Amino acid sequence: MNRQPKVYVTRLIPEAGLQTVRETCHARVWEGKLPPPRDVILREVADCEGLLCLLSDEINGTVMDAGELRVISQFAVGVDNIDLTAATARGIPVGHTPGVLTEATADLTFALLMAAARRIPEGVDFVRDGGWRTWEPLGLLGAQVWGATLGVIGLGRIGTAVARRGRGFQMRVLYSDPRRHPELEKELGLEYVSLEELVEQADFVTVHTPLLPETRHLIDEGTLRAMKPEAILINAARGGIVDADALVRALEEGWIARAALDVTDPEPLPADHPLVRMPNCVVVPHIGSATVRARNRMAEMAAENLLAGLTGERLPYCANPAVYERES
Ligand code: GLV
Repeated sequence: MNRQPKVYVTRLIPEAGLQTVRETCHARVWEGKLPPPRDVILREVADCEGLLCLLSDEINGTVMDAGELRVISQFAVGVDNIDLTAATARGIPVGHTPGVLTEATADLTFALLMAAARRIPEGVDFVRDGGWRTWEPLGLLGAQVWGATLGVIGLGRIGTAVARRGRGFQMRVLYSDPRRHPELEKELGLEYVSLEELVEQADFVTVHTPLLPETRHLIDEGTLRAMKPEAILINAARGGIVDADALVRALEEGWIARAALDVTDPEPLPADHPLVRMPNCVVVPHIGSATVRARNRMAEMAAENLLAGLTGERLPYCANPAVYERES
């Protein structure tokens, strides 16, 4: 009988993937609601060949060296919590879950955009607090989405899916990206502009880049001051792309009108953080991919990546393909 490889899973994930992992591996699963503490991860990986982790776990060279990992499988598309260079240098393939959460995250981005534009959370609070006494000609006036200008920073999978939604609302869609996408420009009628032009012209600025050293604080004081005073910023990518202190000032001092955030820096934000308390900021707890369909598929992909790595096969969804070039 084959020996079952030992793996550590840092949180309960949907059974769609966890069941396979439990059936094929000797799996230890952290069942806490909060992430496992660092010392627990270090102890647990010591005798494991596989690690299935979340974006809230920091996986660096120290964790990799604590055991003899043959694969790291992340239950997310973004892998900024994992030191990919360290993994590649150690010959450890890192799996992730691209594609299956694109539409869910684009839906959430648009939900945030609409919620901020039409001041939905303020309206809900107003009704709950007993403020609704009559129809108000001047109450809760927001911004029209239909026909407005949308600026998409980063035209990857999710940025493109958001651009499509914008076109459905007859928006003029500008995008900035390290490279041009002529086919998408033609298919969707998008306009390629510089970041400067985008922030100056857009009524809605939405961020869809990975978090990299060059995108950290891409939205800083200068960018926020360059935006229109009536503009709305949406971030459903990674918190670190926006300078949170500058954003607080921008919202307090009216450099921009409103913001809507699915991701923050720090994450999670404490309940007494100014961004949580401000009426012109909508914050939700990193739920971009939180649909049953997307999370089930993510779990299946994370399991597929884990099992492929354990049997020495190429990961079907690999975040550091350079690891294979290194071996040949
Ligand atoms: C979610 O943020 C992800 O990267 O999958």
